[in-house]
Amino acid sequence: MLTMSPKITIAIDGYAACGKSTLAKALAKKLGYIYVDSGAMYRAVTLYFLDYSVDTADRAAVKAALANIDIEFRYENEQNTTYLNGKNVESEIRQMRVSNQVSQVSTISAVRRDMVARQQAFGQQGGLAMDGRDIGTVVFPQAELKLFMTASIAVRTQRRIEELAKNNIQLPTETVQHNLTERDRIDSTREDSPLLQASDAVVIDNSNLSPDEQFALVLKLAESRIEGKKKRKFETA
Ligand code: CDP
Repeated sequence: MLTMSPKITIAIDGYAACGKSTLAKALAKKLGYIYVDSGAMYRAVTLYFLDYSVDTADRAAVKAALANIDIEFRYENEQNTTYLNGKNVESEIRQMRVSNQVSQVSTISAVRRDMVARQQAFGQQGGLAMDGRDIGTVVFPQAELKLFMTASIAVRTQRRIEELAKNNIQLPTETVQHNLTERDRIDSTREDSPLLQASDAVVIDNSNLSPDEQFALVLKLAESRIEGKKKRKFETA
């Protein structure tokens, strides 16, 4: 009988716009895993708070708003698409209006607790790649493969400008760079689950790596973790 490969959990954390989601998507596709963009969930919550003028200092209002928020991912036209309460918000959540507020909203513990519970529900069976800021430290501390990604601010700014341009958003370099550094600052210094490198994470600085080089490197890591899990299963069987 053929032994099925066990499925692992892949947690990818790191700074803003360093290619986490591109990598997570490619890995999920190759391995036949689910991909979850946890940042899109915080962005969707932020969009809802903006659209309904939710007072983030009012705990009851935040709690009531969260209870009204349904976030779904649908795979459409070969794209992972975010839906908020049944509406496609994929491009709206990438607008500066949301990018400028998302890190503040993400400091709220009630928001984090709610998102973490939803994220954990996606990954109960393993076979998942998720990117974010606290995936290897808080959401899936038992993940078999944890990556911590970084790249120079110049490279990250340039990549984000190109991504935004694909969505017909043209912004000055300083505006984009300021948003990235400001989000990194808030994300790294917040009290509740800050952006941190897990002690068992593999650090990848991709400033000078092409997407293909990076993918080959990480796929090897993933395959070795899958092999390790297979062996452990075999030994304990
Ligand atoms: O794609 P980009 O690096 O710009 O960011 P994102 O993954 O879309 O995340 C947007 C923001 O959501 C981050 O700057 C964090 O403030 C927040 N976030 C978080 O707090 N925890 C996560 N697991 C994921 C995102």
